[in-house]
Amino acid sequence: MFATSETENYSFPKSFAWGATTSAYQIEGGWDADGKGLNIWDTFTHQGGDRVFMNQTGDVACGSYTLWEEDLKCIKQLGLTHYRFSLSWSRLLPDGTTGFINQKGIEFYNKVIDSLLANNITPVLTVYHFDMPQAVEDLGGWNSEKTVAIFEKYAEFCYETFGDRVKFWITMNEPNLHSIFGYEVGIHAPGKKQPSYGAYQAGHNMLLAHAKAWHKYNTDFRNKQNGSVSISIYAPWSEPFDPSSAKDKEAAETYMSFFSHWIAKPIFIDGDYPEIMKLKISEYSKKQGLNVSRLPEFTEEEKAMVKGTADFFCLQYYSTAKHRHSPEMSEEPSFFSEQLYDPDWPIAGSDIFHVVPWGLRKLLGYIKEIYNNPVIYITENGYPQKDPPVLEDKQRWKYIEDTLKELSKAINIDGVDVRGYFVWSLIDNFEWAEGCNLRFGLFHVDFEQAALPRSPYYSAFQYSDVVKRNGLPG
Ligand code: NOJ
Repeated sequence: MFATSETENYSFPKSFAWGATTSAYQIEGGWDADGKGLNIWDTFTHQGGDRVFMNQTGDVACGSYTLWEEDLKCIKQLGLTHYRFSLSWSRLLPDGTTGFINQKGIEFYNKVIDSLLANNITPVLTVYHFDMPQAVEDLGGWNSEKTVAIFEKYAEFCYETFGDRVKFWITMNEPNLHSIFGYEVGIHAPGKKQPSYGAYQAGHNMLLAHAKAWHKYNTDFRNKQNGSVSISIYAPWSEPFDPSSAKDKEAAETYMSFFSHWIAKPIFIDGDYPEIMKLKISEYSKKQGLNVSRLPEFTEEEKAMVKGTADFFCLQYYSTAKHRHSPEMSEEPSFFSEQLYDPDWPIAGSDIFHVVPWGLRKLLGYIKEIYNNPVIYITENGYPQKDPPVLEDKQRWKYIEDTLKELSKAINIDGVDVRGYFVWSLIDNFEWAEGCNLRFGLFHVDFEQAALPRSPYYSAFQYSDVVKRNGLPG
């Protein structure tokens, strides 16, 4: 079954899922249409103050709330087997609770789901992608334990409403990045600056909320609906600065522990945080004169509840950085710890995006080893162009093509069980704090024109060819 040499065709398994991804706030617009409630991104962007590039907002974004059929055309043109998108929580439940349900919101997502299925495209549904209802944030958002039960109810409502047709669920998107950006450094909504504990607390509540939502499905819906549920994790690869140095290797692994295993290990291994994280945070908390660690602890009951709450591993790979042993790494590294890059690595649209396709193969091998060979989906991978973009986006295609080659090697040579790959993103959209200045789409969106026309980049034609042949030419 496995290829014997690295030069064979870059093929993919039968029934491989080929997809593209979007998220509600980034594409829908219609921020106050038909009874939608406010969410944290509405509030954050409306505050102005240069929180977002040129004070842009997602009020209109790609207009997908009214232009859904245009997106569907793009999906069909690519020939995708799967489409991943997210529900806007406050469009469905304007105050975040099931006390008031917005029927228009249900109708919108019914239309999207039904038209995908009518075209033989599998919907992959993210329950929560960064856009918490403002009313829930006002109760404390992810800093509050109350949000755990509120989220569980919301997830239950989603399974009940859409689960007869949706079989592939992702409870939440990138809790690691969302906690750090939204609840610690405040560069994303809700914009809370709570240095050194905000992210840990938010991440903790998100883990509990995810676990409750998984159990809810498992107990009450799995038998009748037959679907599966996971969570998507932002997972860059960390390369040791000097591969022959044991200390640099340890620094790279420590960084990954603090950033992605933080969320993955409790779910996929044992319901608890990585030991290195617990140790370093408690030591450093003591040095700061605190008598408890800033990293919350799970009770034994919670550990048992969190462990095993994913039916497959969803990872989102964009780039790689190098890490080396340093005083910072031996204390408590953060997402913003020193990141080093090879001068040979090209840089894409955003200056933090280094083009390193081989990082994905290494990451996949590592995940296979430490998480006991899970079924994996790459639920996001992509390459930004800075505005103004070029339609002949050959550099982007080179990145995607090289990444797919690495992916094929990981599957066929290393035996990693990857079942699907999704490009971020189907169409150019509102890239959070970067506004519309960073464009990730396979389709260009002309934000200057009221009709927001979509047109294919070069990459769209190439990707559709890969999808058609279920592989790359050799
Ligand atoms: C991760 C997030 O899920 C998505 O919302 C974002 O736009 C892309 N990566 C690109 O940064």
